[in-house]
Formats: sequence, C-alpha cells, structure tokens
Amino acid sequence: LLEAALRIEPWGADIIDVNMGCSTRKVSGRGAGAGMLLQPDLVARTFNLLSRHLTVPVTGKIRLGWDAARRNYLEIGRIMEENGAALIAMHGRTKTQKYSGQADWDAIARLKQSVSIPVIGNGDARTPQDIDRMLAYTGCDAVMVGRGAIGNPWIFARRRREELTLAEILTAVRRHAAEMITYYGLPAGLIQFRKHLKAYLADIPGLDDFLPSLLATTAPVEFERLLRQLETAPTFAKSAYAD
Ligand SMILES: Cc1cc2nc3c(=O)[nH]c(=O)nc-3n(C[C@H](O)[C@H](O)[C@H](O)COP(=O)(O)O)c2cc1C
Repeated sequence: LLEAALRIEPWGADIIDVNMGCSTRKVSGRGAGAGMLLQPDLVARTFNLLSRHLTVPVTGKIRLGWDAARRNYLEIGRIMEENGAALIAMHGRTKTQKYSGQADWDAIARLKQSVSIPVIGNGDARTPQDIDRMLAYTGCDAVMVGRGAIGNPWIFARRRREELTLAEILTAVRRHAAEMITYYGLPAGLIQFRKHLKAYLADIPGLDDFLPSLLATTAPVEFERLLRQLETAPTFAKSAYAD
C-alpha cells in the first residue's frame, strides 16, 4: 500500500484515502475495504506507516463496523486519529447492511463528538435539504454524497431537481455520454451510460415515448436524433418539470 501511495503522490494527488467502507464480498471478504474494520491493529499500522511517509494528508472512509454486533467505529476513529489520519468519512451503515435500512446519523454525531479531526458524514443525503439536515443533526464538518449525485451532479451546487431545465439536463447528458464513449469506446460507452441516463431523466414526467428507444440505441447519431426529438417535443418546451 505504501509503495502504491508513494507512486501516486508525485502524480499530484491532494490526499491519499484508505477505503475501509467497501462492502463487496470480493474486497471485504479478504480483509480489505470494510474487512479492515475487523482488524484494528492493521488500521493502526496502515495509518501510522502512510502518514509518516507521505506528505499529502492521509484520510480514511469507514462504516459503523462489520455488523450490528460489532459497531466499532468509535474505536476505529480513535485509532485513525492517533495514527495520523487527517480526517474520517463515515457511512452510517454496517458492512452487512450494505445499502439497506437507514443510515445512522446518531452514530455520525457520536463519532464527531469523540475525535478532534474533521468528520465527513455520509449516507442518505439525496437533496440539498438533506445535506443541511445532516450538518445540523450530526455537527459533522462536511457531507459526502454518493447515490444522490448519480444523474444529479447539480446537488454539489445545492440545486434542487425541481429547479433544473430540460436544456441543462440534456447538456449534461450529452457531455457525460460523449466522455463515456471516448473512454469506453462504442458500443460499450453508450451501453454503460444507460444507467446514468435513467438517473438523469428519473422523475421527469412524460418520457414514456422517448426513454425505451434512448435506452436501446448503441449509435451516437441515433442517440442525438432522439435527444433532439425529446427537446423539441411540446411537452418539454420550458422546464423539465413543466406541468
Ligand atoms: C455505484 C457506487 C459506487 C461506489 N464506489 C465507492 C468507492 O469506490 N469508494 C467509496 O469509498 N465508496 C463508494 N461507494 C459508497 C458511497 O461512497 C457511499 O458511502 C454510499 O453510497 C452511501 O452514501 P449515499 O447514501 O449518499 O449513497 C459507492 C456507492 C455506489 C452506489
């Protein structure tokens, strides 16, 4: 890990973050990601080593613990702080919860109370109002947004979905699709973009005539033709959310 971090650092990384939150079996099952939460000594050694040898801040992302019986986030937080972590981001669920249930914001508040390094709260912030609620409820220093940003990068400008026009949504769709095509090639880029497209257009009423063909095409020319058809349809003349 140190070897990898030392290679990355000169490339201009602002921080090195240790992901101790990943719940995928492939990762956590072999002791990495959330699997590290079961090994407090490894957390101590990892942060100690990285923070002594790197000049950029070393940060970590955790979950509450492995499962409901082992919610050891306060212990892990203390260990991280004692071993040079610059901040802690915490997703308020256990590994076994994956993404089910509600994130425990009380636990985020407790972690914030128990360490003096900054705490980033994470879990279930899907709207700008949620961000403000989490900040106020937990006292955390910042909020990390995951799923709420899929198809919705405007959340980082604290804009509500209802404020968006179809034109700006489609500008983002075109740019994102083009970048995915550049990165993955064709048809993979457009196919991989489908899940994002669904999220960009989720909750816009009246799309039933357009979505199936937009989600089916693998040809950029056809994709663009369908987008144009969509934006000139009378239903969508003004706002994406027009009545
Ligand atoms: C598709 C997807 C990919 C993710 N990849 C990562 C990752 O690479 N590193 C990480 O720390 N968390 C990752 N997460 C977890 C999120 O950072 C976050 O902890 C989780 O989604 C809960 O926050 P949310 O309720 O705002 O989505 C991922 C989540 C999703 C849905």
